[in-house]
Amino acid sequence: MNVKEQSTGERSGVSPPVDGTANSFGATGGLTPPRSPGSSIKRWFAERLPITGVQLEELTNEPVPAHLRHWWFCLGGTPAYLFVVQIVTGILLAFYYQPSPQTAYQSIDTITNQVAFGWYIRGMHKWAATLMIAAIILHQMRVYFTGAYRQPREINWMVGMCLLLCTLIVGFTGYSLVFEQLSFWGATVAANICDTVPYFGVFAKRMLLAGDSYNDNTLSRFFILHAAVLPGLMILLIGIHVAILRLQGVSELRFENEPADAPKHFDFFPDHFYTELIIGLTLMILLSVLATVLPVTLGPKADPLTTPEVIKPEWWFYVSFRWLKLFSGTFAVLSSGFIVFVMFVWPFIDGWIRKRTRFSEASVWIGIVGVFLLVGLTVWEAIVEH
Ligand code: HEM
Repeated sequence: MNVKEQSTGERSGVSPPVDGTANSFGATGGLTPPRSPGSSIKRWFAERLPITGVQLEELTNEPVPAHLRHWWFCLGGTPAYLFVVQIVTGILLAFYYQPSPQTAYQSIDTITNQVAFGWYIRGMHKWAATLMIAAIILHQMRVYFTGAYRQPREINWMVGMCLLLCTLIVGFTGYSLVFEQLSFWGATVAANICDTVPYFGVFAKRMLLAGDSYNDNTLSRFFILHAAVLPGLMILLIGIHVAILRLQGVSELRFENEPADAPKHFDFFPDHFYTELIIGLTLMILLSVLATVLPVTLGPKADPLTTPEVIKPEWWFYVSFRWLKLFSGTFAVLSSGFIVFVMFVWPFIDGWIRKRTRFSEASVWIGIVGVFLLVGLTVWEAIVEH
């Protein structure tokens, strides 16, 4: 499609004049048969949005590689879908939530026990967060083990890493908003962890708590981060992630037992659209069942003077929490930072290993060790009290 084609009436869906006396949109007085209201609306839009059905199809209907028929390979759509659920349910919760130490706990109690369907919206929000983190981890594993981060997709891997970190911080700030004992002490522990980082630590702690210790402004800071800054940043990052995907296309995978004449692609619309629709509907049912069968509870209210015997973060931080318990303060924090840095630049490290050494598939073994550590440390933290 070139600019010239786009600017002509025919391409833009506007009929040419039927005789010499017609105006530029073909209005010819008595000669033109009466139009149906549908065609007038179509025409109204065509005059203002000069794009035809064919052009729209060209824009949206990209051929999708055949392996994306399987859910495991198109897992990226699942966190995107759950993110939308988070935004919608989060906006509904924000109508009632009051971010201050004096009111936060009571407002969550009101949402859970008094507001119509408040328990359901809160349950959906909490469960969608849990599933979103699980889906991102699985999506990242799929990308990693299929080598889909390799050249030319290094930048998209790093954009994905930013999305992972944002999602984890959104989870952390959301957990802190409830102002129950564990959320208060969890935030305090996180701030103390920041404090152990040389040079930058004191500043990071102050930024997090809006002061040297938990105070009246801390919760509103968490709320602004949780409900505005981070979701806004994530919308931008998801936009960049998908734009890069559209520019590069999803990586093409070949399987050993694949028949040579098997179709290599299928249409985005309607085939892939239906797959995503079914995944979306299944997720809605799953979220509703989880919110009803395993409703979100409310623990005891935060008491800054009584430290709970056991302080645990949400399950997605178990791995780092166990790591921090295994090693001493500063080393544990710096080594965690180093691991995240290595994950960020992994496509380049892997590129170097493949070019300069004989261990071209080292990434598989490193990945397997990584998954064992992730699962092992998470389960360890889950089953022990301290
Ligand atoms: C909110 C979080 C995320 C969303 C919504 C998302 C969305 C998507 C979607 C829809 C795809 C298309 C293929 C597929 O479905 O697998 C994709 C591909 C990709 N994602 Fe993500 N993603 C997210 C997080 C991540 C993370 C954490 C990483 C890795 C650190 C990552 C790296 C990639 C890469 C490299 C591709 C290209 C894969 C290929 O071409 O086969 N993404 N993402």
